[in-house]
Amino acid sequence: MTPAARAQAAITILDQILAGDAAEAALLRWARGSRFAGSGDRAAVRDLVFDSLRCKRSRAALGGAMSGRGLMIGMLIEEARDPASIFTGDGHAPAPLTPEDREGMRAPCGIEGLDLPDWIWSRWRSSLGESAERVAMAMRDRAPVWLRVNKLRATAAQAQAALSDDGIMVEPFAALPSALMVTQGGRRVSGSRAYQEGMVELQDLSPQLACAALPEVRFALDYCAGGGGKALAMASGGIRNVTAHDIDAGRMSDLASRARRAGAAIKVSAPGKVSGRFDLVLTDVPCSGSGTWRRTPDAKWRLGEAGLERLLEIQAAILLEAAQFVAPLGYLAYMTCSLLDDENGSQVARFLSRGGFQLESERRYSPLDASDGFYFALMRRC
Ligand SMILES: C[S@@+](CC[C@H](N)C(=O)[O-])C[C@H]1O[C@@H](n2cnc3c(N)ncnc32)[C@H](O)[C@@H]1O
Repeated sequence: MTPAARAQAAITILDQILAGDAAEAALLRWARGSRFAGSGDRAAVRDLVFDSLRCKRSRAALGGAMSGRGLMIGMLIEEARDPASIFTGDGHAPAPLTPEDREGMRAPCGIEGLDLPDWIWSRWRSSLGESAERVAMAMRDRAPVWLRVNKLRATAAQAQAALSDDGIMVEPFAALPSALMVTQGGRRVSGSRAYQEGMVELQDLSPQLACAALPEVRFALDYCAGGGGKALAMASGGIRNVTAHDIDAGRMSDLASRARRAGAAIKVSAPGKVSGRFDLVLTDVPCSGSGTWRRTPDAKWRLGEAGLERLLEIQAAILLEAAQFVAPLGYLAYMTCSLLDDENGSQVARFLSRGGFQLESERRYSPLDASDGFYFALMRRC
């Protein structure tokens, strides 16, 4: 496909997303209906779509319309490229620019230029202080791919060598050498031997740093296990008895096969059937995902204030539920992939104000220091 044909494909997909379709579903539908598109085309179209969604407000202003066409024109203007070079009308290229296209074009103003929804700005600014604008701007870029070395299967050096055999180049993070940033071949990871044999897992840097800071215990419960990313990280970190639980059993459906691949023995508890007490209970709660909007940019525009308020209630309830399973002097870890204080420090402070637990440590990561935005608080029963 020519660059112009890829832009036209992105316009079609973006229009479907703007009409309410989920980004992944719209991309998949296009790929299924476009057998002529090779893997390079699919990757390029995907990048155009996700880049546009990350910068949706500012590009719509630049491009003169909140439409697939407006977003593509806005991208070209932002990149100081002449839209007429792509919008030629030749072959599968988008139609040439019209006076109506040009009429709406303007510079983005205020929060628009930060590519955030208006309603979130006051919470964003009070959470991030003087770095608020820089973090918002960082969220407009693509996120790097990080891998976690699974110590049950390989050392960092062995994993690195196996990845390199498949043309995947990585750089270890200095403060945590089992965290590898992919510098080349990111799209090949899931087909690589290192991945297939469980030497590495896809996991962003900030949750890896948080999991590495968990205490060494004998019995741990991952109360909101979902796909099991944190349960597997705990097993890799040396915790031998990890139980996974989730209110939605379906969310854990891949866990058994992932654990087998990783060589980890993880016990799965049915929803609401956790029994006993644990030295460590981890709650990786449902959240706004505001720290990971580079990876799921359509979520940035879907979340509203009412949705956030509902999440705050769910998070508070999960902390209370999960705390029951913490053994005397045991630990309760609270994690979100959010940058908002309402979901992080304020949520933890409210829980601590009820008594029975004390704060051992807390840390918020942002894309300015550790890839995705993430929050981690470690509390201890007293
Ligand atoms: C952020 S996701 C967890 C991601 C997972 N820890 C991982 O690393 O892949 C949050 C999970 O919390 C679960 N959840 C929501 N309410 C819950 C509750 N009351 N008790 C337990 N799990 C809950 C959701 O089903 C969802 O899978």
